[in-house]
Amino acid sequence: MTMKASYIGELLSRGSIVITTESAEETMAVGRLLGEAVSGPLVMTLTGDLGSGKTCFARGFARGLGVDTAYAVTSPTYTIVNEYPGRWPLFHLDLYRLGGEDELEEIGYRDLLQEGGVIVVEWPERVDDEVLGTDLTLEMREEGPDERVITMKCLHANVDLTERI
Ligand SMILES: Nc1ncnc2c1ncn2[C@@H]1O[C@H](COP(=O)(O)OP(=O)(O)O)[C@@H](O)[C@H]1O
Ligand SMILES: [Mg+2]
Repeated sequence: MTMKASYIGELLSRGSIVITTESAEETMAVGRLLGEAVSGPLVMTLTGDLGSGKTCFARGFARGLGVDTAYAVTSPTYTIVNEYPGRWPLFHLDLYRLGGEDELEEIGYRDLLQEGGVIVVEWPERVDDEVLGTDLTLEMREEGPDERVITMKCLHANVDLTERI
């Protein structure tokens, strides 16, 4: 993997980017770079099978966003939402247990959006991107024991996001 900060620029100008990582550490490094590049509120979804590396990516992303290593960034499977202090508040969600879109209200998603933090959502499948307010999607695909293919896409017009990443 050769991940450079310029890739973020490429992501913004091309709308999507594909990166292959060969270890959990590399996936965390990609997450960290993206986290470092964030300069405002953002909603990002992470899709991929169990064990594909979504939480691993989110951990690196949190570090890049300035979340102290004193916080172990773990899967929010049971809590649904974990919050961490960073340059912006980070809300790490796992919607695996969500019954459907109507339950978003119950977990206070609208309030989270209004708080103006950075929202990272694992298992977003049951909810529409429009409803989540997704700016960026990340799909993780397992290619081998340690190989993961990460596809990042910008959903909005880049103009919108360039001001925020
Ligand atoms: N290239 C890689 N990227 C991310 N995780 C990897 C990679 N190679 C191996 N792994 C392992 O895969 C697992 C990913 O777990 P996790 O991040 O919790 O996945 P998810 O949140 O998608 O269920 C970890 O045990 C991690 O060490
Ligand atoms: Mg996970």
